[in-house]
Amino acid sequence: MIPISKPFIGEAEKQAVMAVLDSGMLAQGPRTAKFEERFAQVCGVKHAIATSSGTAALHLALLAHGVGPGDEVITTPFTFIASANSILFTRAKPVFVDVDAATFNIDPSLIEAAITPKTKAIMPVHLYGYVCDMNAIQAIADKYGLAIIEDACQAVGATYHDKKAGSFGTGCFSLYATKNVMSGEGGMITTNDDGLAQKCRMLRNHGMQRRYYHDMLGFNFRMTDLCAAIGLVQLDRLDEFTAKRRTNAEYLNTRIESVITPTVKEGYGHVWHQYTIRVDGGRDRDVAMKQLNDAGIGTGIFYPVPAHQQEYMREIVGDVPLKVAEKLAKEVISLPVHPQLNQSDLDMIVAEVNKL
Ligand SMILES: Cc1ncc(COP(=O)(O)O)c(C=O)c1O
Repeated sequence: MIPISKPFIGEAEKQAVMAVLDSGMLAQGPRTAKFEERFAQVCGVKHAIATSSGTAALHLALLAHGVGPGDEVITTPFTFIASANSILFTRAKPVFVDVDAATFNIDPSLIEAAITPKTKAIMPVHLYGYVCDMNAIQAIADKYGLAIIEDACQAVGATYHDKKAGSFGTGCFSLYATKNVMSGEGGMITTNDDGLAQKCRMLRNHGMQRRYYHDMLGFNFRMTDLCAAIGLVQLDRLDEFTAKRRTNAEYLNTRIESVITPTVKEGYGHVWHQYTIRVDGGRDRDVAMKQLNDAGIGTGIFYPVPAHQQEYMREIVGDVPLKVAEKLAKEVISLPVHPQLNQSDLDMIVAEVNKL
């Protein structure tokens, strides 16, 4: 089976972990600091704050922006559930705005209608590694004085008119094992705002600046140096990983004919965390997926149930029809696009998908 994802773990990653073990300093320490410094450089921002996960990064970023009970945060329903859950953790309410079928991302033309006096922030999600239309979103945020918290969990290295994901607002990244750059588990917050960075650092570590003096209620959302050591090595490979993903996606895009393939607009630097096709026209997605799996092609459905239709979320946000997201959730299949695919894998994927 060609796996849908395959973390790259080379000698350098193994040696980096061993060096941390040998050092005896396992918790958040010098490697984490170095990883933060390098991550900030890669994103073109002043600060990066390492966390224990992407979910923790989103949670802290929202809290640092003062999002709390009674507030509303606009986001997309077509995402991993952590985007919306992080809003709920602050006791604010997610307000879901439908997506654009061509990009899978939040449709900026629908955002203004969702703004109320309670709206505090917009959380665009750069799904599959494709940055949202940030000029349009920025204009709305500026007009209404809203914070932007980017869920860039899938989009490390992605660009929009030469600006990096995570540099438009407060960026939140995941370093989960299957991400384009990974540390096993982990996350990162990126910002140019000194005060916000400081707040995130405190919230991450029980509200501490001085040891055992707690200035605010915080969490233990720290990264270990074991994770940071892996992440540092991976970050050095980011350009190489991204180039390979782009070559693979281009190969698939120019040869797959049986289904709707993803498009990339001018000015967008997609990093292809996922390569996602749509099985439309009344065809059964489950049948198509089984056919691919039986032929040895690993697949993923990201995501089969939009956030607003998850049972507990429905109780919070009510019955909101979001037709595009609901349709996409029934049609999408992600195919392997990771850097470890070889030529025969790619040819096999093309051949089997074209049989659908
Ligand atoms: C879009 C999106 N948001 C948030 C997250 C949460 O990240 P983590 O799994 O590191 O908590 C993920 C990770 O899967 C994601 O893909």
